[in-house]
Amino acid sequence: MFNSTLVFNPSDGTSKRFSVPIVQELASQNLHSLPQRYIRSEAERPNIFPLPHLDIPVIDMGMFLRDSDVCKQKELGKLGIACQEWGFFQAVNHRIPLSLMERMKGIMREFIQLPLEEKLKYEVQELEGYGQAILASEDQILDWADAMYLTTLPPENRKMNFWPTKPVDFREVVEQYAVEIQKLGNTVLSLLSENVGLKPDCFINMCGEMAQVMRLNYYPPCPRPDLVLGICPHSDGHGLTVLLQDDETVGLQICKDGEWIPVQPIPGALVVNIGDMLEVISNGIYKSIEHRAVTNMDRDRISIAMFYGPGRETEVGPAPELIDELHPCRYRRFIRADYIRHFFSGRLDGKKKIEFAKIES
Ligand code: OGA
Ligand code: NI
Repeated sequence: MFNSTLVFNPSDGTSKRFSVPIVQELASQNLHSLPQRYIRSEAERPNIFPLPHLDIPVIDMGMFLRDSDVCKQKELGKLGIACQEWGFFQAVNHRIPLSLMERMKGIMREFIQLPLEEKLKYEVQELEGYGQAILASEDQILDWADAMYLTTLPPENRKMNFWPTKPVDFREVVEQYAVEIQKLGNTVLSLLSENVGLKPDCFINMCGEMAQVMRLNYYPPCPRPDLVLGICPHSDGHGLTVLLQDDETVGLQICKDGEWIPVQPIPGALVVNIGDMLEVISNGIYKSIEHRAVTNMDRDRISIAMFYGPGRETEVGPAPELIDELHPCRYRRFIRADYIRHFFSGRLDGKKKIEFAKIES
């Protein structure tokens, strides 16, 4: 009753069907013990010891609108360091209306609470829809989460048959939010370009036609959060990610110098992180950082990740201006669509995916 049949596209282009549970249904069953398929090896389990208390950098986006060049340059320096050393920051004063962010979380929760048969109308196929798309083999350990993937930009690439019609304002809100996140994404890309001495539009131009994909993550409560992961360690494959998350529930952790650091939600803030494509374009100056999500025993959590970056046709490679004798080229050039195929053709495994583009030194 609670199985969802999923489609997987290995690199050879063929599809396979797998059956995996909808975790929300599993979680509602008052389980005495967890199904084996969710239990991580000891090395992968979340740390139950107190985690180091460090906070990821906070960037005041409002500073970039000031007349004062001093304020702007100071914040730009902070942003640069955040993206070089952390690969992550929290954006505050980003000018995306709080009311839109709240509506976004609201419609996602409403969708999650619909009866299963309604949600399965949008069952995942070829990386689009509701369920679990990143599945490489039948014996893979599963994440304690359900997801929904939608292509949001460019508008002509939307597959509307996967866009829920309930709640009734779902489509309208996602459309509005996608535009706002694109604006923020372009601002961040321009600033990061400027910060390495390039023209502000350099990174954006290098992306060609921009693509945006949304991923809703739903993490149901888990009776044994010490044994499972909500999402296993990975880096994001796009240019950059903007994550909207619940205000009260901690779940995201990033790997900093070998330690897992929880990201404390700041109400109203958005978490921004560097993806593999921006690491490549910046020739490794900015880093896509490994991260994961853990679950909680008595509360669920939602997050909405918007991935933004080069479209399928773009040939991606490091900016030539960033390469010289002291800074040799560290990544090869490739077509974005080939990276996507590579990214989804095996289980997520930390930062392994970017090896595809690395030049051995
Ligand atoms: C993702 C992701 C983390 C979270 O969707 O790529 O890393 O906190 N999500 O949900
Ligand atoms: Ni991620």
